[in-house]
Amino acid sequence: MSKTSALDLASGLGGKIRKEQVKSAVDQYENYHEIYGGEVESRTSNYADLANKYYDLVTSFCEYGWGESFHFGSRWQGETLRESLKRHEHFLALQLGLKKGMKVLDVGCGIGGPLREIARFSSASVTGLNNNAYQISRCKELNFSVGLSETCNFVKVVSVKDLAEDSPLPWYLPLDSQFSLNGFRLTRLGRFITHMLVKTLECLHVAPQGSLRVSSFLETAADGLVKGAKEGIFTPIFFVLARKPLDNQAEI
Ligand SMILES: C[S@@+](CC[C@H](N)C(=O)[O-])C[C@H]1O[C@@H](n2cnc3c(N)ncnc32)[C@H](O)[C@@H]1O
Repeated sequence: MSKTSALDLASGLGGKIRKEQVKSAVDQYENYHEIYGGEVESRTSNYADLANKYYDLVTSFCEYGWGESFHFGSRWQGETLRESLKRHEHFLALQLGLKKGMKVLDVGCGIGGPLREIARFSSASVTGLNNNAYQISRCKELNFSVGLSETCNFVKVVSVKDLAEDSPLPWYLPLDSQFSLNGFRLTRLGRFITHMLVKTLECLHVAPQGSLRVSSFLETAADGLVKGAKEGIFTPIFFVLARKPLDNQAEI
């Protein structure tokens, strides 16, 4: 059964955190943030703890206030929030062409609202991927209550790794070099030459009209990637390892 009463909110608050430790978890969660004096380094190195505390602390509020599906959707006049979210989930299932016998992975499945609706609507089997043990336990309870335990299951994220961190050379180096013999076209000079070449080819009607603008927006994207990498806010190589939670273990 969905937990929607104020008592459910209170009893679920804190997720897998023991009740007497909720207050200190809130302190720790807040202290990760800059306005409470937290440092980027600490947020980055404790990413899993930060994310888990957040979801342990907020999930029962989301379920209480928003329902089983934690997303948004377009909404028509006269349509309830719940109806609009379900319509959005049906839309996704139709766009994906889901049918009985198909298997789908729902990455970041929350407590499984969309997963259940899509599984019932399409008869496909859906596996939910999540990093939070409390949300997975709610998924399992709710799936059981609607008879979906056999068709849908869950995997829990074991580790998330930014593979770019361990790269001996920065991954963005090809886009940031002034000069390189083996990747000249990607260097700043090489890209400038390509840009001028495309401009000329477009003027001569060899390349279609609009080619230079494509070159320009790729150039903007390349600069953005390099800047994002240098500021440590973007990585292109994210590796997620997940596995089914062991039945007798709440946490992995
Ligand atoms: C906004 S909620 C959306 C949940 C669900 N898709 C829905 O619409 O109801 C985001 C979800 O992503 C999950 N999540 C966040 N970071 C994750 C990660 N690194 N690996 C797996 N799941 C993650 C959270 O636990 C949460 O369930």
